[in-house]
Amino acid sequence: MNILLTGGAGYIGSHTAVELINEGHEVIVVDNYSNSSPEIISRIGKVAGRLAAYDADAGDEEKMRQVFLKHKIDAVVHFAGYKAVAESVQQPLKYYENNLSSLIATLKTMKAFGVDTIIFSSSATVYGTSQTAPFDEGMGTGCTNPYGWTKLMCEQVLRDVAKAETGFTAVILRYFNPVGAHESGLLGEDPKGIPNNLMPYIQQVASGKLGKLSIFGNDYDTKDGTGIRDYIHVVDLAKGHVKALQYAQEHRGMEVFNLGTGKGYSVLEVVRAFERANGVEIPYQITARRKGDVAESYADVSKAQVVLGWKAGKTLEDMCRDAWNWQKQNPEGYKNSGRMQRQAKGL
Ligand SMILES: NC(=O)c1ccc[n+]([C@@H]2O[C@H](COP(=O)([O-])OP(=O)(O)OC[C@H]3O[C@@H](n4cnc5c(N)ncnc54)[C@H](O)[C@@H]3O)[C@@H](O)[C@H]2O)c1
Repeated sequence: MNILLTGGAGYIGSHTAVELINEGHEVIVVDNYSNSSPEIISRIGKVAGRLAAYDADAGDEEKMRQVFLKHKIDAVVHFAGYKAVAESVQQPLKYYENNLSSLIATLKTMKAFGVDTIIFSSSATVYGTSQTAPFDEGMGTGCTNPYGWTKLMCEQVLRDVAKAETGFTAVILRYFNPVGAHESGLLGEDPKGIPNNLMPYIQQVASGKLGKLSIFGNDYDTKDGTGIRDYIHVVDLAKGHVKALQYAQEHRGMEVFNLGTGKGYSVLEVVRAFERANGVEIPYQITARRKGDVAESYADVSKAQVVLGWKAGKTLEDMCRDAWNWQKQNPEGYKNSGRMQRQAKGL
């Protein structure tokens, strides 16, 4: 199949591109490199083989039309979007505009060209703060920040389109906490500035870029008082998209799947696992809880196991080892990453 990945140069998109190429698909990437770099395209090429890539905004209908004219697209995986929760609280319009307009323009172009299959990147954040883990797809939703609302709104857009258009298929994947990197060390997560997420933070402490890890709260009602999350290796997550595309070939309408391991680890357990796996020490300090954080978040993964035939296979040690391998090989991340940052600096 010819599969278009919007945001395909990003962290999850690049790993998914590799898995799809390995499965024999043609991959076409549309990315505006707002949070990635063109260098990633050549790295995907090195790991997996040839792909096509366009420097374009998925919200630009004319540019999307050009891509659909050039390639006979069979299905779309829509990764494009901004993802920083704290930034979304400070700049909500930036998030609503980009995350909604990129999906809507993509859907309009798909409709114009008769493409009826989309896989959408959603997030465990849509379970909000009032549910108790494990979270299953039938639970109620709610959000505490604009980023989360954009995901829920996009889910609603897809639900309504699937109702209105016979033959349309939308598979919504709610990711838990993707971590790790490709085992080649050529692809990985490249956050800008001080990382928001635990694993990249630990990596930067291990490399000496940051002095100490801040752990936000050790008084949660959990086994050691620190927050529990469901960490999933990005390569397992990428393989979940391959399964979702197979599922979409045989089903119509909209379906939601959690992609996690179903197992929760505390912050301290992740720190210890990273130290053990890599023989390094991670100094840390306990600081105040972060507003909006829940004590425990992990997935009920039975639906993805039964219906998609997908299960995460990699361990926490694998995640820690691959994350560190990536960090050591790419201490400064990718070259020229993050167009917005470069523009903001007048570069
Ligand atoms: N990483 C996570 O923890 C996580 C968790 C849940 C959901 N998600 C969602 O998964 C998707 C991929 O996440 P990621 O971690 O790979 O993020 P990422 O920032 O690494 O990748 C997103 C990519 O989309 C591109 N992009 C953004 N807006 C665009 C636009 N309008 N047109 C074209 N390209 C655009 C960026 O340049 C980037 O390459 C996002 O939608 C994110 O919200 C991520």
